[in-house]
Amino acid sequence: ALPNAVRIVEVGPRDGLQNERAVVPLAAKLSLIESLVAAGLGTVEAGSFVSPRWVPQMADTDRVVTHFRSSDAVEMPVLVPNLRGLELAKAAGARTVAVFAAATVLFSRANLNASRAESLARFAEVTAAARASGMRVRGYVSCAVHCPYEGWVEPGKAAELAASLADMGCYEVSMCDTTGAASPGRALAMARAAIAAVPIDRIAVHFHDTFGQALVNTLACLELGISVVDSSVSGLGGCPYSPGAAGNLATEDLVYMLDGLGIATGIDLDALVKAGAEISDVLGRKPISRAGLALATR
Ligand code: HMG
Ligand code: MG
Repeated sequence: ALPNAVRIVEVGPRDGLQNERAVVPLAAKLSLIESLVAAGLGTVEAGSFVSPRWVPQMADTDRVVTHFRSSDAVEMPVLVPNLRGLELAKAAGARTVAVFAAATVLFSRANLNASRAESLARFAEVTAAARASGMRVRGYVSCAVHCPYEGWVEPGKAAELAASLADMGCYEVSMCDTTGAASPGRALAMARAAIAAVPIDRIAVHFHDTFGQALVNTLACLELGISVVDSSVSGLGGCPYSPGAAGNLATEDLVYMLDGLGIATGIDLDALVKAGAEISDVLGRKPISRAGLALATR
């Protein structure tokens, strides 16, 4: 059955902007996050503490986190790939970090320069250290459905990794269709396996929209009772190590659908559409979100 309320994790400032060719100025990032918070988003992923040589777009995450460190009402996770990243996140004042493991060997190598086992051992250390300093840790399972290098992924393999992340102490594990190849049959198989391995209230879903399936995949997972969804304002997004993957599910499209279903989100859709239009202006393009476009031109 559908949930009564859905918590949206806005990943645009991180998953969206990490993939832009031009580095977005700090002032525009701060303004984007301010607009998203004003629209009612309670969780906004602010950036990542990764190697600036690997992902130069996120090199100013310390300044983003420092800017918002006193806003208690909003949860702002930041990605950390290792203990070094955790230390930087802590120093900037982050209270929530996210670790990101991949279900496949080749994606793990491409994204983290580590094997699956190495990256899990590293994330166990990071999670333990973060929790010992009173921080919360979110987990990602990349390639939960499909891998850009290995093809379709067996649902049990992704679910097993989700269980490892939950056992480590991640409060929530986000199951990701990194390449956006899933359609609802595969999305459901992935989600059912995840639910069998991890309590359903600790599972989130994260769909990229390469084949235009992100919204329908999300609806299929909501019907199973999953109630946390990652999305990105204006459909920004992609991973530099997943060639050809499109942006994330657009937050505007998600909120429009949830409003229509009578499912509470606490988000002001008009304000969200404005936030999407603003960042699209900065990037010099039209919003990718269909609901955003429709509402902006009315
Ligand atoms: P490496 O080259 O094996 O690591 O990279 P290293 O330890 O040899 O370090 C290389 C350099 O990076 C060194 O600097 C380190 O000091 C520095 P140098 O001496 O060469 O000048 N370094 C760091 N700097 C800042 N912060 C750090 C850090 N760590 C090392 N934390 C590493 C290994 C993990 C660092 C690298 O592979 C990396 O940064 N990977 C991150 C890649 C990334 O951000 N990918 C995108 C996010 S994941 C995603 O988009 C998927 C998701 O959306 C879900 C989905 O859709 O699937 C979450
Ligand atoms: Mg992603």
